[in-house]
Amino acid sequence: MLSFKDMVLHRQSTRSFSDKEVELEKLQRICEIASLSPSSCNSQPWKMHIVRPTYKKVADLRKACQVVGLNPFLDNVSNFIVVEQTFGNMKSKSGGFFSNNDMNSIDLGILAAHICLAAEEEGLGTCMIGAFRKKIVNKAMDFNVFRKIRLVVAIGYPTDDYEIRKKTRKNIGDTIDVIK
Ligand SMILES: Cc1cc2nc3c(=O)[nH]c(=O)nc-3n(C[C@H](O)[C@H](O)[C@H](O)COP(=O)(O)O)c2cc1C
Repeated sequence: MLSFKDMVLHRQSTRSFSDKEVELEKLQRICEIASLSPSSCNSQPWKMHIVRPTYKKVADLRKACQVVGLNPFLDNVSNFIVVEQTFGNMKSKSGGFFSNNDMNSIDLGILAAHICLAAEEEGLGTCMIGAFRKKIVNKAMDFNVFRKIRLVVAIGYPTDDYEIRKKTRKNIGDTIDVIK
């Protein structure tokens, strides 16, 4: 089993997907593990929608994530985990209000990280997609305009020759500060 560090180094935004079929059980397992993510006041303000290649509007969903020519690699993706923000709970809402902190966004970000790492363990590649047309995504999902899709995770098997990139990140000194 990969160490956590190795898994983090291995996880990358996959932008080259093979046409290998993705097992539904794997997607379900990933979402079940992700649902164990922590959240503010355990409010769990999320719903994960597993979209399968057989879904009649999967092409519309894909298109909604390809605004102005972005994300062309999605042409080969037919499985998605669509992350919807739902109502959490009053305790988290009031905590966020008094601290002026957007707890839901933090919760959903943590959830997304769990999804991607759980997928990694299953040998699947993911790419979080934040650049999408909300209205069109809602339409593709058959949701009314009030539903809040916050993230679309493209998921599938990476192509065999897809290399693991070296991580490019800011200097550690710029992102970690030790207060003594
Ligand atoms: C909230 C969020 C939205 C993102 N949206 C997109 C996107 O629309 N298209 C894309 O190709 N990558 C997207 N990414 C992936 C980032 O570009 C990527 O995580 C970053 O460049 C670091 O690379 P790595 O994931 O390979 O380590 C998104 C990532 C996050 C966290």
